[in-house]
Amino acid sequence: MAAIKEKATETIQAHGGALINREVKGEERESLLAEAEKLQSITIDAWSVSDLELIGIGGFSPLTGFLGEKDYLEVVDHLHLSDGTVWSIPINLAVTEEESTNLTVGETVALYGEDGFLYGTLDLREKYTYDKTKEAKAVYGTTDDAHPGVKKLYGKGNVYLAGPITLLNRPDHKQFSEFHLDPAETRQLFQDLGWKTVVGFQTRNPVHRAHEYIQKCALESVDGLLLNPLVGETKSDDIPADIRMESYQVILEHYYPKNRTRLVIYPAAMRYAGPREAILHALVRKNYGCTHFIVGRDHAGVGDYYGTYEAQELISKYEDELGIQIFKFEHAFYCNKCENMATQKTCPHDPAEHVHLSGTKVREKLRNGESLPRQFSRPEVAEVLIKGLQRGSNK
Ligand code: ADX
Repeated sequence: MAAIKEKATETIQAHGGALINREVKGEERESLLAEAEKLQSITIDAWSVSDLELIGIGGFSPLTGFLGEKDYLEVVDHLHLSDGTVWSIPINLAVTEEESTNLTVGETVALYGEDGFLYGTLDLREKYTYDKTKEAKAVYGTTDDAHPGVKKLYGKGNVYLAGPITLLNRPDHKQFSEFHLDPAETRQLFQDLGWKTVVGFQTRNPVHRAHEYIQKCALESVDGLLLNPLVGETKSDDIPADIRMESYQVILEHYYPKNRTRLVIYPAAMRYAGPREAILHALVRKNYGCTHFIVGRDHAGVGDYYGTYEAQELISKYEDELGIQIFKFEHAFYCNKCENMATQKTCPHDPAEHVHLSGTKVREKLRNGESLPRQFSRPEVAEVLIKGLQRGSNK
């Protein structure tokens, strides 16, 4: 278990300098699994299991575990870890006060999922209480519990456990096994493909033509596109990940050059933290080996909590430190007069000519089995989504 050495000339450096690997395999894993049975244990939810996995596989490099108080406060107050590395969203493991009193700093704690499965261990270095309202305001920009990220935060236990983790078992991504690569593997893949520049694309929605447009604009300037949809926990009215994955496959099949695109899952939970999450999304994609990252309109936003370009404004302040280049795109739409995709930057026509559909409207139409306008969605994609929603998610 060690940081993976990279040849910096061949691939972009991981965030903080080295790609972290906290997963154990083989005999070491077997003996830790046996030991874990004798350890104190806690049950962690699916969100925390995904954080554990992301730390373990290096997606959250340079983190080696859940944040201690000093790092936590630095992140919340100043968007940096205490060693000065830019980091925007605290990655913490919360337990109730009652659970915390049974645990002693210095011991190793076994981490079980709600499915009763052992996922890893935590070397408990610190326990501390935290100010939920302060975290909500700083990270999500609101204390409104109607915000899905804030709601989640308010529902958590009052104590954070901190320390390095060991990943012993992965959550089950069998249904996406074809698209499941770790950061070390995507880095290798890009080298094998000869891609020197790669743009990463985050999404939690079915792919529509504005997505396609901004991806392809970016692809004009770089060697490859990593379509990297988030498949961890999302809010209940988002389209389930397995149905979305079908939509990505079908659009890649029909509309993208095969030698310049790769589809790989991003197994994280969605925070809906807008500007701060755009920064997290960018630095994680750097860990996956991307040299560029797309931030469009209202990135990682929900409702009206963030301004359309707030994520772009915040990330611009940290772009040099982040070390990954950001492609920023204005709101893109289909213009009936241009007969093309466009933005305010390229289209002179009246907004009445622009085809707009909100995410809510799209979901509503699809759930009613109605197709989407061709100007908004590729027909193959709409068909997959309607069928998927009628059949139901397999997740
Ligand atoms: S997100 O929560 O993952 O950001 P979504 O999957 O809709 O949501 O967006 C993925 C990326 O595409 C984000 O960078 C977002 O800003 C961008 N995006 C989505 N729709 C548009 C659009 N119409 N114009 C420009 N950028 C867009």
